[in-house]
Amino acid sequence: LHVGVIGAPFNKGQRRMGVKDGPSVIKDTGFLDDLRNLGVDVTDFGSVTLPHPEDNEAGPSGERWHKTVLEYNRLLASSVTQALRETDLCLTVGGDHSIAIGTVNGHSQVNPDHQVVVLWVDAHADVNLGKTSPSGNMHGMPVSFHLRELAEQVNRLPDQWPKPCISAQHISYIGLRDLDPGEVRMIKDMGIQAFWASDVERLGLPAVLSMCMEHLQPSEKRPLHISFDIDALDPMEAPSTGTPVRGGLTLREGLTIAETARATGHLRAFDMVEVNPDLGNQNDANLTSQAARLVILSALAGYRGKTQVCTFHLN
Ligand code: ARG
Ligand code: MN
Ligand code: MN
Ligand code: MN
Repeated sequence: LHVGVIGAPFNKGQRRMGVKDGPSVIKDTGFLDDLRNLGVDVTDFGSVTLPHPEDNEAGPSGERWHKTVLEYNRLLASSVTQALRETDLCLTVGGDHSIAIGTVNGHSQVNPDHQVVVLWVDAHADVNLGKTSPSGNMHGMPVSFHLRELAEQVNRLPDQWPKPCISAQHISYIGLRDLDPGEVRMIKDMGIQAFWASDVERLGLPAVLSMCMEHLQPSEKRPLHISFDIDALDPMEAPSTGTPVRGGLTLREGLTIAETARATGHLRAFDMVEVNPDLGNQNDANLTSQAARLVILSALAGYRGKTQVCTFHLN
């Protein structure tokens, strides 16, 4: 497996500065060396940053930093497309979850006759429109930019970037527990497959994952994209994140989701987002970046099945 890694140190999708340091603290865990030790071929594509000053312009429905968020994501999308032309799988490390505007779009551009399918692992649905968002924060909106069903209701750049690239049946959610009223309505109206944290509790994760994979049907022509918000995990396991919600997934459940995705053989893109080392104390920050590292190692290398032959730290 040849993995391309992109840093997305971006924080304008919400209002807490520290999430910009997510890529560096996650890299500081040494996960790139761990991947190499686990037999993965890694190319580091460096970080995507805007070449010009940020522009504090809101969107027509009050989307904070609308122009900056979308221009950043346009750049990120082309890096993701490029990385996927040169490697088998693109890992993007954020940054806030608005970066999934760029990652999913960029993934979809790689092969025009392929249909990307998305597993969104998150406490939140991130499907707000400008007009349904109570916060105006664009990290709560990335999914809306991709859905064909919402095409008419989303405020894009003047040249209409980004074009929608998935339909409602091409995305599933796992871990939901904090949705806004408009989001609940849209998910219901569009018939999106959604497993709340309570569904994981009730049905068990293996059954939930079987239903997701049955629904998404990842294949050569339906490459799988996982967008993993660290706040899907319980705040006891991953406290340093901007919008923590109690009652979340365990780290073991996060690892199982990642391993199951890997086992399909069709995982082509993985986003790890919303690690903010400024929140909480040093121990909180370490727990959170280590949780991110272990989920990444599971998705890309299935480390839990291999640790008898390698010697890195697992705490
Ligand atoms: N639903 C809330 C909002 O729209 C919270 C979104 C949190 N998103 C995230 N990626 N952490 O503001
Ligand atoms: Mn290669
Ligand atoms: Mn979230
Ligand atoms: Mn999110």
